[in-house]
Amino acid sequence: MKYFETDQIKYINNELFIENVSLKKLANEYGTPLYVYSRNHFIKQFIDFSNAFKNIRHKIFYAMKANYNLNVINTFIRLGAGVDVNSEGELFRALKAGANPNKIILTGVGKTKNEITVGLKKKLLMIKAESEEELELINKIAFDLKLIAPVALRINPNVDAQTHPYISTGLLENKFGIDTDDALSLYRRKNYYSNIEFIGIDMHIGSQITSVEPFVESVQKMIELYNQLKKEGITIKHLDVGGGIGVKYKDENVSSISDFAEALLPLFQKLDCEIFFEPGRFLTANGGILLTEVLYTKQNNNKNFIIVDAAMNDLLRPTLYQAYHHIQPVIMKNNEIIKADVVGPVCETGDYFAKNRDINKVESGDILAIMSVGAYGMVMSSNYNGRRRPPEIIVDGDQIYLTRSRESFEHLLWDEKVI
Ligand code: LLP
Repeated sequence: MKYFETDQIKYINNELFIENVSLKKLANEYGTPLYVYSRNHFIKQFIDFSNAFKNIRHKIFYAMKANYNLNVINTFIRLGAGVDVNSEGELFRALKAGANPNKIILTGVGKTKNEITVGLKKKLLMIKAESEEELELINKIAFDLKLIAPVALRINPNVDAQTHPYISTGLLENKFGIDTDDALSLYRRKNYYSNIEFIGIDMHIGSQITSVEPFVESVQKMIELYNQLKKEGITIKHLDVGGGIGVKYKDENVSSISDFAEALLPLFQKLDCEIFFEPGRFLTANGGILLTEVLYTKQNNNKNFIIVDAAMNDLLRPTLYQAYHHIQPVIMKNNEIIKADVVGPVCETGDYFAKNRDINKVESGDILAIMSVGAYGMVMSSNYNGRRRPPEIIVDGDQIYLTRSRESFEHLLWDEKVI
């Protein structure tokens, strides 16, 4: 594949644009490495998602772990989304971004006592429980606070999401959720949990799921549980099917959101409860680019290396999951394709963005665009090798917003000093 273009990222006369803005111009003005996002791609993805499920009562909670820049979260809030938060730090950011606590879900397989306390005090829409012990703790904290905690149990449907093992979460061998039978027993003990109201059933089977089957199979298991509970007089207000819907990174076959809707709607339509979704990647992945400058090119024993100024600390996905991100020049100067490794300056062999990749011949000073980094890009960055994390720009039409500037070295020191 030579070009990776999307609705908002396109070549015009061999120059790559995001919305109406030249990426070359952004690299010149703000330096590299640089994250750039398209607000209108985010909006389009949200609207497509919401339209696909418009015939059922549903709510979308943006899984902010995918990209928690305040203005990205805020873009979805303005479209009516709630937010799915996975820690106290994410909750802090969600509130700063303007989220209403009663549209926030608190997720996480290992919530601390403090996180549960904060979640209850802030009166979040609901807290998920992923074990019997956690349920006991939520009940106790709610009792001490003289509150009723709205809770959904996250079930583990034991379905293979057919994705990378590190991001597959719906098998019983994974740490997540509660076995369906055990969940049933816990719901049945609802009178014992004096300070808990069971309002939902929840699942999340993994991420970057590209076919509908694992989803359908898991939802069917949730529905069985829902029907059993209903028969026993336990009313559940919503099913939360989590996130996980995949996107295109390359030329792979990915079911579209309407394929997912077509397969799932007939199942949902049989229920009289609301459906919750927690998409992250689907909403943001293909709205983000990481711009990086070519520092050097070289050959070792006839093997080509393109050494760029971004590194694994800026974008970890290739190193951690061997993930594919398309890489293309911001200015398409030639059609000469070479095979090369694109690597960063960090002193680790794992610090790479592409291996043995067919890529346009480039030279020192050229700018490359690493594509599809709007999800799990900046949020997984670090300061390894004493590197400052990149700035983040949001483009909206021809408007350019610097939403977070490059960290300073002073910032990296925080309050550390020689004692
Ligand atoms: N809900 C829950 C409970 C989750 O754990 C996640 C993601 C989501 C929703 C959103 O899933 P999405 O729609 O984005 O697939 N760092 C990995 C992905 C980790 C996903 C973790 N959980 C990556 O870069 O591929």
